[in-house]
Amino acid sequence: MSNESLANLLKEERRFEPPAELAAHANVTAQAYARAEADRLGFWAEQAERLSWTTTPRQTLDWSNPPFATWFADGELNVAHNCVDRHVHAGLGDRVAIHFEGEPGDTRTLTYAQLQTEVARAAHTLTALGVHPGDRVAIYMPMIPETVVAMLACARIGAPHSVVFGGFSADALATRITDADARVVITADGGYRRGKPSALKPAVDEALTRPGTENVRNVLVVRRTGQEVAWTKDRDIWWHQALDAQPHQHTAQPFPAEHPLFILYTSGTTGRPKGILHTSGGYLTQTAYTHHAVFDLKPDTDVYWCTADVGWVTGHSYIVYGPLANAATQVIYEGTPDTPHQGRFWEIIEKYKVTILYTAPTAIRTFMKWGEHIPAQHDLSSLRLLGSVGEPINPEAWMWYRRHIGADRCPIVDTWWQTETGAMMISPLPGVTPTKPGSAQTPLPGIAATVVDDTGTEVPHGHGGYLVLTQPWPSMLRTIWGDDQRYRETYWSRFTDRYFAGDGAKKDDDGDIWLLGRVDDVMLVSGHNISTTEVESALVSHPKIAEAAVVGANDPTTGQAIVAFVILRGTATETDTLTHDLRTHVAHTLGPIAKP
Ligand code: WT7
Repeated sequence: MSNESLANLLKEERRFEPPAELAAHANVTAQAYARAEADRLGFWAEQAERLSWTTTPRQTLDWSNPPFATWFADGELNVAHNCVDRHVHAGLGDRVAIHFEGEPGDTRTLTYAQLQTEVARAAHTLTALGVHPGDRVAIYMPMIPETVVAMLACARIGAPHSVVFGGFSADALATRITDADARVVITADGGYRRGKPSALKPAVDEALTRPGTENVRNVLVVRRTGQEVAWTKDRDIWWHQALDAQPHQHTAQPFPAEHPLFILYTSGTTGRPKGILHTSGGYLTQTAYTHHAVFDLKPDTDVYWCTADVGWVTGHSYIVYGPLANAATQVIYEGTPDTPHQGRFWEIIEKYKVTILYTAPTAIRTFMKWGEHIPAQHDLSSLRLLGSVGEPINPEAWMWYRRHIGADRCPIVDTWWQTETGAMMISPLPGVTPTKPGSAQTPLPGIAATVVDDTGTEVPHGHGGYLVLTQPWPSMLRTIWGDDQRYRETYWSRFTDRYFAGDGAKKDDDGDIWLLGRVDDVMLVSGHNISTTEVESALVSHPKIAEAAVVGANDPTTGQAIVAFVILRGTATETDTLTHDLRTHVAHTLGPIAKP
């Protein structure tokens, strides 16, 4: 599209009405807003009924000790039972839970019944290794079905997992293992990435040499690539051997709704990552509800595909917990979008007849760069709904997505949320909201958000400021692991009684919300959250560097790119390879995604 036609389009303030067919059968109608408006807590109590509770909660929100919330606190449930077993009991055992597509082209299908067996065996394995309810388990894995099984097995025995993205370095992994004081690490020999095996186990071995990781007793290793791995006797155990020795049935024990489900680390404005703590009942209620409402999921006919990595919150909430709680059939793909060719995503959609696609603006802009002739070579007619997440989507990418992937038929839901919010917060509803290219638009039913100025006063329509959430929500973070004070200071002190999201935003003349990017020192690189301080600390840990300053610069594909300014130490000399060395050093310290 030319810039001129785009400008015209935006001038028209074009809106796209929900497709009539979708609106007529939508899971959620405009009535949901009215219901939630009239009785917000009653609305969430109704949504909690989507789950199967061993003790039905009578309480909803307890906000008597802000900013520490509890939701459904007197209820009890088992999260894994809700995501797997209850569907099997309901007669859905033969339904496909996961269509797995490996990067080399190998495939596996897991039905809900098979998933149940795998989770049972993995749960027994963890218990046999001495993992008790409340113990933390670190998961450092490629995008393979065992990763989902490992997370659900942890949930099943009440052991909070801490998934560390497989692209993070040994150092970053060690920091997270130490902070959560993990007892067991689940990893793989490697995964396939850009056409070749990419090792994971060596980073675990290296991380476990670092002080502070001594409490890790065992490393469970999934065999994925078959590559050679170093082996520490009495500590390392093959996943398949361990599971083979275990029974296929496992009785799920109920846990209180506020039992910790997982810790997930996210960048902070100081270098140290924050362990965002999520609990069970409220988290599962909101992920299940939003997955049902925003994707209009029809579990018996839809094929859903979220392209995120399970190492990020999108993978937790919209690959594992939301979709599985809703008995969805989904695709999981291991690799990169250009392996072995740039049409891989569209080939997968055609092959599995994907109906709902959830991806990131960075990916969409990359596909734009590669050209629309690539998706045009594939039959994408199965698609009925498109989602976007992770960073603001520019109107041009939104229009390209709509036209070249959605054939001008599929509604686009631009979903704003965070690791901290646990689930979607601001998004159109596909059967209700006339969509606007580039805007996340409206808080979902039961969610309260607005835009305020510096002094905390709500801005009028047509003005900008800071995004705040004005009421607690079921899937909110409960604290920062081990640091209640930092939780208070980071999120609840900038504006009284309101949650500060760290995002700039504006309200347009209709009151719709447009996200404008971070207002703190967090950069959004390909939708990944990286703090400037973190990269600065990595740079100054290089022997040649005295000082470093890092900023995010606009980048047409990745949203932001990392730019570093450095001052050398007096004794250091500049060499031809210095820039390269520093980039490699940061990649080694933090992970390749953080390379300036
Ligand atoms: C930050 C949170 C949400 C899961 C993935 C990222 C940005 C996220 C949108 C969106 C504009 C968005 C915000 C937010 N963001 N979604 N639809 N429009 N910005 O989770 O790593 O915790 O990052 O991502 O800046 O604060 P995260």
